[in-house]
Amino acid sequence: MSAIPLATAQGSGLKALRAAALSFAGDPFLLPADETLHYESDALVVMRDGRITAFGSASMLLPTLPHGAEIVRYDDALIVPGFIDAHVHYAQLSVIGAFGGTLLEWLTQHAYRVEQRFSDPIVARTTANEFLDECLRQGITTAMVYGTVHAVSVDAFFAAAEQRAMRMIAGKVLMDRNAPPALLDTAQSGYDDSKALIARWNGRGRLGYAVTPRFAPSSTPEQLASAGALLQEHHGLYLQTHLAETTDESAWVRALYPDVRDYLGVYERYGLVGRRSVFGHGIYLEEAAWQRLFDAGAAVAHCPPSNNFLGTGHFHMAKAKRAPRPVRVALATDVGGGTTLSMLGTMNEAYKVARHTGFALTAAQALWLVTGGAAEALDLTGCVGGLEAGHDADLVVLDLAATPLIRYRMGFCAGVEEALAVLMTLGDDRAIRATYVAGRLAHRRNPGTLP
Ligand code: GUN
Ligand code: ZN
Repeated sequence: MSAIPLATAQGSGLKALRAAALSFAGDPFLLPADETLHYESDALVVMRDGRITAFGSASMLLPTLPHGAEIVRYDDALIVPGFIDAHVHYAQLSVIGAFGGTLLEWLTQHAYRVEQRFSDPIVARTTANEFLDECLRQGITTAMVYGTVHAVSVDAFFAAAEQRAMRMIAGKVLMDRNAPPALLDTAQSGYDDSKALIARWNGRGRLGYAVTPRFAPSSTPEQLASAGALLQEHHGLYLQTHLAETTDESAWVRALYPDVRDYLGVYERYGLVGRRSVFGHGIYLEEAAWQRLFDAGAAVAHCPPSNNFLGTGHFHMAKAKRAPRPVRVALATDVGGGTTLSMLGTMNEAYKVARHTGFALTAAQALWLVTGGAAEALDLTGCVGGLEAGHDADLVVLDLAATPLIRYRMGFCAGVEEALAVLMTLGDDRAIRATYVAGRLAHRRNPGTLP
């Protein structure tokens, strides 16, 4: 008689996914892939109340499920943790792929022009919805996001993320100089607006706040000091900003802060470099700065789609990961400077940038940089970025037969690492068969069909 166990399974909100699955038992930058990959060719990922409660071989776990538990089976698929985009400007979605110019020209012609529209809450709301739906189509379940200078841009973003129950980190841009007047705040108003946003959103559900001075050239020393004060006054906040993306920008910072030892030193002076600080780009950093980033436990968001599109340079993975001081690194799209929200595409571009610098990025390392390693960079280890029990049930079902060419090429793969390399080389949103957020199916590539 199955009535009671069936009721138990349904009442518990328990659900299991069955497919091949891949997670990490360690950092593939520190250990060989075969010691760090946690691969199950026929896995069960069991989820309840938004969390993963078990991950392992189906043969081991099936007998432990209550009778009648819902099991969704995916063939020709690989389940991985939900992807993390560690640096992205949601308000720049409408200038993605806007051609022309150097970084500073692109900012003026495109980014600063479109960001002025975000004083309008309707623009902010519609863009936030569009952005987050595209994230889900690309398998992104967590991101570290720049709003604009307008507080309303962050209210709209967090509200849209909350509706989707996504784990998101975001903040209002602080900039009080060297930008169009319509985009300027003041040290005081930026502080006050940030404080109010922190009170409204930080720690609410799955949301976290990042103090967000845009970059050193667009903030006065007073504003950077106020950003440091916000971090002091609230435990557990994040800090996000840009660092050493181009040589022109670095020279500008030297001219603005002639008495500081280097670009990172400006942020250090104002107490902005710590365990929850994530610096976008970091292309032009000397060894001393890498060492200080490591000492502080800070992270760098490597944004290859943006660096390639804007022609800003090649990130040096070998320098970032140099022993004995490997710096925490996450991959990021940097949309709209970046040209895609595909994290598979971003892994592909990271591989190619690494080749340019003589670094052989493995597929396991690339996946780590958008899952477990990115979680580490965002100080979210054990919370997101893995499939093991206790993690949030954020995951992606990758399609191993997403296109005719992918299906064909998979026939020549020797193992899961090669299959992953094929997906990151040939894959895009067509390879995202499903995205789960907190255990709920949030995106299905082919609605109306079986999984
Ligand atoms: N540096 C300062 N602001 C920005 C921005 O919006 N995009 C990029 N790529 N670099 C920046
Ligand atoms: Zn950026």
